[in-house]
Amino acid sequence: MTIYAVTGTTGHLGRLAVAELLARGVPASEVVALARTPEKAADLATRGATVRRADYSDPATLGAALDGVDVLLLVSGSEAGRRIPQHAAVIEAAKAAGIGRVAYTSITDAEHSANPLAPEHKATEELLRASGLPFTILRDNWYIENYAAQLPQYLAQGEVIGIDGDARIGAATRADMAAAIVTALLDEGTTGGTFELSGPPITLSGLAATITDVTGTKVAYRDVTADELVAVLRGSGMDDATAGFVVSLEESVARGDLDLQSDDLERLLGRPATTLQDALRAQAA
Ligand SMILES: NC(=O)c1ccc[n+]([C@@H]2O[C@H](COP(=O)([O-])OP(=O)(O)OC[C@H]3O[C@@H](n4cnc5c(N)ncnc54)[C@H](OP(=O)(O)O)[C@@H]3O)[C@@H](O)[C@H]2O)c1
Repeated sequence: MTIYAVTGTTGHLGRLAVAELLARGVPASEVVALARTPEKAADLATRGATVRRADYSDPATLGAALDGVDVLLLVSGSEAGRRIPQHAAVIEAAKAAGIGRVAYTSITDAEHSANPLAPEHKATEELLRASGLPFTILRDNWYIENYAAQLPQYLAQGEVIGIDGDARIGAATRADMAAAIVTALLDEGTTGGTFELSGPPITLSGLAATITDVTGTKVAYRDVTADELVAVLRGSGMDDATAGFVVSLEESVARGDLDLQSDDLERLLGRPATTLQDALRAQAA
């Protein structure tokens, strides 16, 4: 019997990882769903998983949360800027609990990337490597859903706006990432490995063309400057700080920080990754 625990199970990726573990035949009695707010994970309890409270910012919750766990998936937190001490607390608690292996969801090319989100992931990878715990690192590229979820706006505006329409992004769906991550969780042979979960590259101009193709509604790509993009985001109601941060992420994309080709995702999936077309078709439906 191996007990698998997943953090962040009230979020999109953690929830998908729990569902994938169950779908692969792991008995619900061997799945622990960790959540900052366990009430939000009631549906996972209904499916038989054990739901426990684990708040990265409250180390007192982590010991009991990880008790008896063999393999832990640490889904990176969503509070950018606070994640190094948060993740460090989870790794410390995993060590104290004698966990057999920790898998961590990092970012594309974490050790070299100039993406503003990369330093926290790089630091977490380093903490994990230094911990002495067996580990598996799973570096997630952008989610296709970052774009697919904006389909209604793209259609309403008739355009996709960006600062480099030809920059390549190895995006993949969250469901594919969760499936690949679960393969790695279930396969002890991935211990010590670092996997780049990138899909076939997309571009923003290609996104506009694919939306046109899939929906039959003409959507064009419009290249703007970084300042113009800030103004567009401010006009949509975003505050200054958030708009600046979003544009810094777009500048990272434009530099090619997410342009990484790897077959790790498809090897772990054992099939081709879901295409942008299919993801948009599913979103449109
Ligand atoms: N690759 C990408 O394109 C991309 C995009 C966005 C984010 N990410 C990263 O990937 C992670 C997973 O993505 P996602 O789509 O599942 O994000 P999400 O839906 O925002 O879920 C984030 C999860 O982290 C939990 N969390 C945040 N702070 C926590 C804390 N202090 N203690 C315990 N849990 C905490 C949240 O709990 P609550 O429900 O209580 O808030 C939630 O369950 C994100 O957290 C972020 O690090 C990647």
